[in-house]
Amino acid sequence: MSKKGMYSIAFAMLFTVCAIIVTQCVRSETHQGATSGQGGIILGFSQIGAESAWRKCNTGSIQQAAEESGVQLLFANAEQKQENQIKAMRSFIAYQVDVIGFVPIVADGWDNILREAMDAGIPVLVTDRKIHTEDDRLYAGFIGTDSEQEGREAAFFLLKKFARLGNQDEADGKPVRIIEISGTEGSSVALGRAAGFREALADHPEFTIIHSQSGDFLRSKGYEIMRNLLEVYSDFEVVFSHNDGMTLGILDAMREAGIRPGKDVVIVTIDAEQAAIDALRRGEVNCVIECNPKTGPAIMSLAKRLAQGEKIPRLLHVDETVFSEYDDLSSVAPRGY
Ligand code: AHR
Repeated sequence: MSKKGMYSIAFAMLFTVCAIIVTQCVRSETHQGATSGQGGIILGFSQIGAESAWRKCNTGSIQQAAEESGVQLLFANAEQKQENQIKAMRSFIAYQVDVIGFVPIVADGWDNILREAMDAGIPVLVTDRKIHTEDDRLYAGFIGTDSEQEGREAAFFLLKKFARLGNQDEADGKPVRIIEISGTEGSSVALGRAAGFREALADHPEFTIIHSQSGDFLRSKGYEIMRNLLEVYSDFEVVFSHNDGMTLGILDAMREAGIRPGKDVVIVTIDAEQAAIDALRRGEVNCVIECNPKTGPAIMSLAKRLAQGEKIPRLLHVDETVFSEYDDLSSVAPRGY
């Protein structure tokens, strides 16, 4: 049997496992198996997991776009482990895929595997989250969210909100105490959202972050952390949560404690899942910053260009919107996640 034939069998086995994982983790999104489309280029893609509705939509978008554009997708779910991502990428290199795409769970620690891909002549597309590398030439380009801007937008909303409370003189001197529940430690999105938020509030010392803690982008942790914090802090004006999943847990904990989210405490959240938009409409959330998960079509088009040896832009940020209590929300279309 040829070397390629042996690799095909090994990969068929790997994909069966991936297909099972994806089917279990992406229940509502899965309308095809782990490989999609026939012919065309082969894209090996390492996804980080299924930690949020946002992530499940992102996976669905990639799988559907692959099928629609005739890209053969070798999809691996890393279950939140960087070592699983590195293993999957190494398998993609062994299989000699045309392009590798991945969502880096954390920003650091990719240089070695990227060098292996470069040595094998396989271009790598980084998506959703950014990475730090010694040498930026180790990957072809990035497409995804502008997390610094998302953090700034959260701060801009608070500046608007608190300038509107009472008369301007009163609002100026009053402290605004903020609890920040951040995303996965070491991920570029958690780092970027925190940095953009602080940057935009830097000239406004009345806004103070009294507590910042990672909730790992999980609803269960948002709930647990807020329950504990409510035992410690009785006075704070704002919760800035890095994703909607954690926010939904935070809202549960507040309601249980008799606090009215959105009224007693200002809630600012990121992602714009349907559940967060619904909470905004109910007045339980004050501002929702969109993080756009529907990058599948753009990823496929970039992967095809890379496979043809073309250069792609180093950095592509996707379009994102801000929804707040100051907006007319009647025309917001169903979010799809
Ligand atoms: O990397 C994007 C973030 O990861 C989203 O904000 C979050 O919901 C997801 O899990």
